[in-house]
Amino acid sequence: MQMTYRLLALIPLTAIVGVMLVVANCAAEEIPPADAKFFREEVLPLLKETCHRCHGAKKQNSGLRLDSRDAVLKGGQNGPAIVVGKPDESLLMKVLKHDGDIQMPPDKKLDDDEIAIFKKWIEKNAPWPIDKKKS
Ligand code: HEC
Repeated sequence: MQMTYRLLALIPLTAIVGVMLVVANCAAEEIPPADAKFFREEVLPLLKETCHRCHGAKKQNSGLRLDSRDAVLKGGQNGPAIVVGKPDESLLMKVLKHDGDIQMPPDKKLDDDEIAIFKKWIEKNAPWPIDKKKS
């Protein structure tokens, strides 16, 4: 009998946690305008200029595309390219810093301030506003 009461007590609790999760999710999807601007003006041009010829629509070296947030999160042969919010754990930062066997871009290391742009972007939870005009 007591067990039944305990289970009943769980129902409102589950509902409250559920609502909180939904609210948190909605909030996470809204990208602050400053972050959207930062992505469009700094991150995206850098990706286009230095990565997309090998990790874009035409070519996907190591199975990796860097032309959408989902693709970056999915990653390539070695798994997700970034860990959202954690540049230090992100493969993308490792390859840019030429820390291991894979070094990107292959021909030349990016400047420190360019690498810092990717770091800041991952720290900001990798905002990737969808361009409404295109979709
Ligand atoms: C000239 C072509 C070329 C360019 C430009 C290039 N890459 Fe790569 N990338 C490769 C190749 C080839 C591999 C596979 C390397 C290997 O496995 O040793 C790779 C692998 C990677 C990986 C590892 C993926 C995995 O899961 O194995 C990451 C992350 C990556 N690139 C990020 C980048 C980023 C970020 C840029 C732009 C700053 C970039 N690459 C530019 C050719 C390129």
